[in-house]
Amino acid sequence: MKRIAVFASGNGSNFEAIAKAIKNGKLKANLVCLICDKKDAYVLERAKKYKVKSFVFSLKKYGDKKTYEEAILKVLESLKVELICLAGYMKIISDTLLKAYNNKIINIHPALLPAFKGAHAIEDAYNYGVKVYGVTIHYVSEEVDGGKIISQGVINYQEGMNILEIEKRIHLLEHRLYVKTLKKLLEE
Ligand code: GRF
Repeated sequence: MKRIAVFASGNGSNFEAIAKAIKNGKLKANLVCLICDKKDAYVLERAKKYKVKSFVFSLKKYGDKKTYEEAILKVLESLKVELICLAGYMKIISDTLLKAYNNKIINIHPALLPAFKGAHAIEDAYNYGVKVYGVTIHYVSEEVDGGKIISQGVINYQEGMNILEIEKRIHLLEHRLYVKTLKKLLEE
């Protein structure tokens, strides 16, 4: 079974979707750790609930990105992590991790890339007035939200939907798509 790590910074609903699918036997993988950059993030509670080892790294404490990522890399290597799944991780992945995990880092983004890159994708798409929303899972490269697309899912806008409903649907789609995509990547 492939050994995976999830990186997250906040709520962690995608982390939980992955952890739950593994626990229920719907996804065959070994979730060896959660890497988090915020000591108060709710995702840490979720990790406890699923008995997944978590590690908190503060960029401030390490001072620079290189030293910070080298510290993370040590943990990943000691746990023999084979694939990194970003799920709401709010830091840009830089050289150290990109080189060590070339083509082995994936990310979920709440829009149909290449449209609406960045941290406010749902709001940006809503303000633009799009009629089709979606989710993208892609490989991580030097270009933020720019790596090769692995999978996408769509939601059609229905008249009268407000942004909260759209967000809710997008998150539900994310949870399904992440598990489905990992299944394909890890079990084939
Ligand atoms: C998701 O919308 C994901 O696409 C984006 O950050 C959000 C994380 O949500 N990258 P959660 O922390 O998994 O609930």
